[in-house]
Amino acid sequence: MEVPKNSRNIILELRNIEKTFVEDSRRLKVLDGISLDIGEEFVAILGPSGCGKTTLLRIIAGLEKPDSGEVIVRQENARIGFIFQSPTLLPWMTVLENVALPLRVNGLSWEEAKDRARKYLTLVGLQSFEDFYPRELSGGMKQRVNVARALAVEPAILLMDEPFSALDPLTAETLRSEVLDLWMWGVTTVKTIMMVTHSVDEAIFMADRIVVFTPRPARIAGIVEVNLPRPRDRRSPDFQKLEDRVYELISA
Ligand SMILES: Nc1ncnc2c1ncn2[C@@H]1O[C@H](COP(=O)(O)OP(=O)(O)OP(=O)(O)O)[C@@H](O)[C@H]1O
Ligand SMILES: [Mg+2]
Repeated sequence: MEVPKNSRNIILELRNIEKTFVEDSRRLKVLDGISLDIGEEFVAILGPSGCGKTTLLRIIAGLEKPDSGEVIVRQENARIGFIFQSPTLLPWMTVLENVALPLRVNGLSWEEAKDRARKYLTLVGLQSFEDFYPRELSGGMKQRVNVARALAVEPAILLMDEPFSALDPLTAETLRSEVLDLWMWGVTTVKTIMMVTHSVDEAIFMADRIVVFTPRPARIAGIVEVNLPRPRDRRSPDFQKLEDRVYELISA
């Protein structure tokens, strides 16, 4: 059940990840043994609020340590890009500087970083906004900058934490298609996408596999494969059948 389509090419392995947060005398078990092999595919993580989805992404990105278990990146020098749940653009920096900053941190000169940043701003359609400040942008444009910033580090693995949930429905739908197109056309370095979402519809629309988490502490309740051609038709009977299956897992 946990074998991806292209199982010869596993990019990321999660082995029995466990995490308990301890604060004062309170212990909160959040992840209860998450194991998953992930290939060159789009995986959606679906689960109730507070079950540990963000924590898992943070562990994969190396921003948090698991108590036990392992995150194994199978590809040499594979970088990881992260699109966070809450907005993280620096308000005193321009769009271009915001996208270039992580590249500076990775050792590029400002000139190199800005050239690279321009390339990815162009990919997300923001080439003429490089001198704008975040407050001058709409919500959708800000999220495009976040996408460009994550892509600019040229990651093999892209982690997205509810990337569309703060946007109005139309903007969200446009960005979903754009991100899928960028990934499928192979114009970026991204091979694997892991996206956390609350939306069953969004998961079926975008992902190759949907991993459903239980309420906290999160375990894998089940995995649903989505073998529908893209772009996907939400009104098709197959789409609706998948919706039923995912909802069954959620309420199990
Ligand atoms: N650094 C931390 N210290 C203590 N507790 C934490 C920390 N980070 C997260 N938690 C707790 O762990 C639980 C899981 O948090 P997490 O952010 O992973 O949930 P989530 O599934 O992403 O939720 P949501 O869907 O609401 O974003 C929550 O109860 C949260 O309060
Ligand atoms: Mg979260």
